[in-house]
Amino acid sequence: MERPYVVVVSEVSIDGKLTLYRGASSKELMSLMDEEAYRYLHEIRAKVDGIMVGCETVRTDNPSLTVRYVKGKNPTRIIPCSTANVPLDANVLNTEDAPTIIVTTERAPQERLEKIKDRGAQIIVAGDELVDFDRLLPMLYERGIRSLMVEGGASINWEFIRRRIVDEIRIIHMPVIVGGENVPTLVGGEGFKKLKNLLHLRLRSHFVRGNHLITEWEVVR
Ligand SMILES: NC(=O)c1ccc[n+]([C@@H]2O[C@H](COP(=O)([O-])OP(=O)(O)OC[C@H]3O[C@@H](n4cnc5c(N)ncnc54)[C@H](OP(=O)(O)O)[C@@H]3O)[C@@H](O)[C@H]2O)c1
Repeated sequence: MERPYVVVVSEVSIDGKLTLYRGASSKELMSLMDEEAYRYLHEIRAKVDGIMVGCETVRTDNPSLTVRYVKGKNPTRIIPCSTANVPLDANVLNTEDAPTIIVTTERAPQERLEKIKDRGAQIIVAGDELVDFDRLLPMLYERGIRSLMVEGGASINWEFIRRRIVDEIRIIHMPVIVGGENVPTLVGGEGFKKLKNLLHLRLRSHFVRGNHLITEWEVVR
């Protein structure tokens, strides 16, 4: 399929956690990140055509997903949200900052979609129950999104990884341990379970920015 080049980018603790506990905004953990690490993150944002986070991240973190630490253009924000249950005061619906696409399914109430459109966002319907990324990615490509940064959370990362629609993974390592059995990690979902199904990566580069080790991985298969 013709699809955008996909880069998963995430800030994770040494034990792979995305946040402090299930339901917690990752903004708290990210407050430990220094400016150099933010600059690295925003350099990527400035280079891609589209940026995606899951609807749960919008509800818990309320991110803006704009470029602020470096100069550059804001990518189009793309939010998979199966019933369009995105708060109408969410920062991603400030469409004067950057364009936003809410990706939804046949389950989304029409009235809700109208309210989102009134905020200036576009709507794409791709899926019956949940957003179907195999359907969505060629649609994004057709709209000119040739590169897509996926910034989590765990469920969305799993969807891309299990379908093997990822080209690169870039990690900002936070030099802390969070612990906890049910705390979201880089990749959630069912997991591959079998050795033969694992996603294989090759380390492309590693370097330090501020207090953070950064690793960049290419997907092998
Ligand atoms: N450290 C970091 O880099 C980082 C980055 C991002 C997020 N986070 C943290 O991660 C946590 C959220 O992660 P999460 O895994 O709970 O949620 P998520 O991946 O952000 O979003 C999942 C939501 O997306 C919607 N969705 C639509 N289609 C889907 C599909 N095909 N498959 C799966 N979900 C689909 C569903 O919401 P609907 O039912 O409404 O459709 C689902 O609940 C938060 O604590 C956040 O702070 C951390």
